[in-house]
Amino acid sequence: MKILGILASHKEHGLNAELLDNVLDNVDEGVETETIYLENYDITPHKYHQENEVLDELSQKLMDADVWVFSAPTYWREAPGLLKNFFDCMRPKFVYFKENGDTIPGPFKDKHYLSLSSCYMSTTENFLTGITDETFKTIDRVMSAAGVIKTGEIVLPNTFGMKEIPQKKKDLCAKYGHKISQKQEKDDLTMKRYIQLFFMIAVMALVTMGIQVPLKAIMPMDNFWINYASFTVIFFVLLGAILHYVTFVKHRRR
Ligand SMILES: Cc1cc2nc3c(=O)[nH]c(=O)nc-3n(C[C@H](O)[C@H](O)[C@H](O)COP(=O)(O)O)c2cc1C
Repeated sequence: MKILGILASHKEHGLNAELLDNVLDNVDEGVETETIYLENYDITPHKYHQENEVLDELSQKLMDADVWVFSAPTYWREAPGLLKNFFDCMRPKFVYFKENGDTIPGPFKDKHYLSLSSCYMSTTENFLTGITDETFKTIDRVMSAAGVIKTGEIVLPNTFGMKEIPQKKKDLCAKYGHKISQKQEKDDLTMKRYIQLFFMIAVMALVTMGIQVPLKAIMPMDNFWINYASFTVIFFVLLGAILHYVTFVKHRRR
């Protein structure tokens, strides 16, 4: 079992490095760890028919690890260019291409990842505006294309003038260090997702029927088809909204 830390900060020994160290220092006994600092690599795109030793080396390191931990500060409200360049250049390694140009997960499918980010913004501001969301979304988008499974997120807001990460965050890093040490061959959240989906549908159905009650005053709800059509439309809107929130909007902000 091996865990690979990928540091994408301008600072090799800054707060993101400290977050990453706190995760990797707390992995279970017997778990091997390694950190790569992206700035130490001359990462350039793969040119057709040309060897790219740097990409091959990074690709091998990714392949040798079971879990990847990305530690990337938020720059200009999004993922740092260093990480984006790494993702862009690694695209042919992350995915296979179909004849029509579509992509499918490549050789890293079913590995796992954890994302760490930080920002100067205060905890309250980040909670309200989600400055760090874009950083997490970029990582999620690429990992989803590569078929790599998410384990979680840790965010460190309020970093302006911060010298050391707070104990609360260190504890959270330690918790994740243990969590990612448990080797997971494939997405073991399937059962949890089915249970969540069941409760989501149960609540949405209840809310939909609740909304239908006052509609009786303006619509002939005794008519089966009107009842059915209004249920379908309300249910679809509510479920679409909640799925959008859970899938795209919800990120750790504190
Ligand atoms: C180029 C650059 C852009 C940044 N943009 C933002 C930003 O848009 N919002 C924010 O809250 N912090 C911003 N920051 C602050 C970083 O997120 C901060 O440096 C980081 O939290 C500290 O981590 P480090 O010690 O690993 O560098 C920026 C920092 C740099 C260097």
